[in-house]
Amino acid sequence: MALLKRAEHSVEAFAISRNLAAFEDLDKELESEFDDGWRSFNLFEGREAFDMKLPDSVQFVVVAVNAQDEEDLDSVIGVIRRAKEARRSVLLIAQDISPAGMHRLMRSGADDFAPYPLPAGLLSETVTRLRENVGREPEKTETRRRRKGYILPVYSVAGGAGATTFAVNLAYEMAEHVRKTGLRVALLDFNFQYGSVATYLDLPRREAIYELISDPATLDHDGLAQALTSYKKRLAVLTAPSDALPLDIIAPEDVGKLLEIAVTAYDFVIVDMPQTLVVWSDLVLQMCETFFAVLEVDMRSAQNMLRFLRALKAEDLPYEKVQYVLNRAPGFTDLTGKSRVKRLCDSLGIDINIFLPDGGKAVVNACDQGTPLADAASGNALRKEIRKVAISLVEMAEAQAAAIA
Ligand SMILES: Nc1ncnc2c1ncn2[C@@H]1O[C@H](COP(=O)(O)OP(=O)(O)OP(=O)(O)O)[C@@H](O)[C@H]1O
Ligand SMILES: [Mg+2]
Repeated sequence: MALLKRAEHSVEAFAISRNLAAFEDLDKELESEFDDGWRSFNLFEGREAFDMKLPDSVQFVVVAVNAQDEEDLDSVIGVIRRAKEARRSVLLIAQDISPAGMHRLMRSGADDFAPYPLPAGLLSETVTRLRENVGREPEKTETRRRRKGYILPVYSVAGGAGATTFAVNLAYEMAEHVRKTGLRVALLDFNFQYGSVATYLDLPRREAIYELISDPATLDHDGLAQALTSYKKRLAVLTAPSDALPLDIIAPEDVGKLLEIAVTAYDFVIVDMPQTLVVWSDLVLQMCETFFAVLEVDMRSAQNMLRFLRALKAEDLPYEKVQYVLNRAPGFTDLTGKSRVKRLCDSLGIDINIFLPDGGKAVVNACDQGTPLADAASGNALRKEIRKVAISLVEMAEAQAAAIA
């Protein structure tokens, strides 16, 4: 049956080098990025071979060079120029090239550059970024397409109330849901001290994070790209650094800058906020679309929530942006529990729209294993609720986008 036949994978990328084997593991990286949609070519050696025919399907030309190519940079530059004339994205991967050589190569028009060995996730990040520029007029490719994503912070009013569990699973459900539409989701862990997003997703904490948040000079699109890891290539994640840092290590204006950069590259930016209110908390609140405050039905949550709301009102902050999330909410049949919730809402003067059930031991296990609920316990009651929230957020954003267009 023709309908069931898998469409043959079209070739999306050419990898051009003198000898690809000299770049150990680059083939694996390319494979994980393009599956079997890439081909390796040696074009530097036999120069007449440089009648480079680029099939329409090829969007990326990855050019890998090392010290051996230094003597004959002209043919490398020829390849780059030719690919640029054909309006393909060119990614240069370089090892042991002198600064003067690098300068010449970069001036020949490559879109981006990565050092070899490749830092984990960098190829994927760069390709994703270049994909956004595909098919654009050359003069427009200079300015990256400006998305204007939604900032969605998640805040726990009392330690352990479940903010990180909600943030991680919400982000992943959203990323899964928008997979086919090309919308992009990022999750940023702003608990610079004890952030646990990395643990809940079993991700490495990259060195570049420390630079990104401690050195404002690195705060740009590339700095963020370097610091991001991805979970299953679907969800971009900024984990907390591996060493605990003071929460005020980053100035409010730099938090603002970081978020600005994030929303130009991602449609949804979920931020796991620290419980401590810091100098930049109100900035996040000002910049966000909806601020999720996670609480439980206990005295501690009630009292902290009261303080939090008072602080917002005293500072004239937009408390109407707060969306309350009741975690470990009582079930339908728990009438005493339900009346406690009602009393809580009345005393705080709030309406709660999101109720998350207790998901039991499976939730703790999933967190410990570093797997989102969708993968570890897809039928879990907590997962189902978070998924509903994720889908309705995406749908609302799509409806807004349609209304503007
Ligand atoms: N609805 C739930 N059902 C079952 N377990 C849950 C639920 N929500 C959270 N947990 C578990 O409770 C623990 C604390 O959750 P989490 O880390 O998300 O809270 P937090 O508010 O981010 O805490 P912190 O203040 O430390 O940042 C985790 O082990 C998590 O697995
Ligand atoms: Mg947390």
